Amino acid sequence: MTGPGVENINPRSILSRMKPYTPGKPIWEVQREFGLTSVTKLASNENPLGPSPLALEAIQTYLSDIHRYPDAETVNLREAIAEKRRFSPEQVLVTNGGDELITLLSETYLEPGDEVIVPSPTFSEYEFGANLLGASIISVPLGENYRYEVEAILEAVTERTKMLYICSPNNPTGTYMTKTDLHRLVKSLPSHVLVIFDGAYSHFVTADDYCDGLALVREGYPVVVLQTFSKIYGLAGIRVGYGIADAGILQRIRQVKEPFNVNTLAQVGAAAALKDDQHLEATRTNNVKVREELYTELRTLAIPFTPSMSNFVLVDLGTQAKSIYDNLMSRGVIVRYGGGWNLPNHVRISIGTYEENAVLVQALKEIMAVLA
Ligand SMILES: Cc1ncc(COP(=O)(O)O)c(C=O)c1O
Repeated sequence: MTGPGVENINPRSILSRMKPYTPGKPIWEVQREFGLTSVTKLASNENPLGPSPLALEAIQTYLSDIHRYPDAETVNLREAIAEKRRFSPEQVLVTNGGDELITLLSETYLEPGDEVIVPSPTFSEYEFGANLLGASIISVPLGENYRYEVEAILEAVTERTKMLYICSPNNPTGTYMTKTDLHRLVKSLPSHVLVIFDGAYSHFVTADDYCDGLALVREGYPVVVLQTFSKIYGLAGIRVGYGIADAGILQRIRQVKEPFNVNTLAQVGAAAALKDDQHLEATRTNNVKVREELYTELRTLAIPFTPSMSNFVLVDLGTQAKSIYDNLMSRGVIVRYGGGWNLPNHVRISIGTYEENAVLVQALKEIMAVLA
């Protein structure tokens, strides 16, 4: 409801063309809507094992310090990341989740008239960042079985191309760009194109021919590697991510970022999580095991899916996808509907624990039995 005194206060015209991000439904909302006590959320690619225990411990010890402003330079965390990934601290920029890095990159580098190449379907925030700054989105469809096609991407490059996003493994398809293709692509691009390699799910990859993009930064290419603590490290709720790139590229971003963009608890939690190899390994092991279990059940139900290198699987439920998604929700199983990616016959299912997956599979079996 807009009051009479404010109706002439107009937002930027671009906003009328921008859709707000649709997150996975939170557990409390589904509990309230359907009167359920038990809800299984497999919609946001979170870590089903929970946060790193080392992170929890570190956060607890800092709670009494939160009357202080956080370290604006995130010195300790940047040093920890730099050491872990073998870069210098100047080549690391910590952000309020990977999402903020995308917005900051857009604010730093995009102008109206610039073109941003986005292989699609993919993570919606790339489009959001480009739209916000009035840049044009050049969408390049992924190829057969959602594979990246280097030639198609290169054909889309023009003098106006400013950025190219490569999400690998890609959300929501779980497919990835091979090392050979990534190197060929980056080496074939004109020097005015900044590549954003989104490795939010890179820790889940087991394929030998995968590249997490860091080698290209080391070789001096204009590549920004995005990473997050929201996925394998299990810290989605405290919002911390980072970029690794040439120090000069990051220095320009520091000109537009808010001084205290990453809160203290996020900084100490993330630094502790980085050391938690045990939690990381347990998460990886669970992911491979439960993903395989999901594949087996989907095959039994004759439901097609795209093999994934990540912690989610894109599942083809045909024309009934939306009603199956709604039905799952009413039974307290939240997955992500594909409509927002223009994949109306699909849902994306996050890999949960063995028990969560069993709940999903049982619900799916019951729904499919009625449909058969
Ligand atoms: C591909 C991809 N990149 C980046 C992000 C951003 O994650 P966050 O802002 O939680 O760090 C996500 C989150 O879902 C994602 O799927």
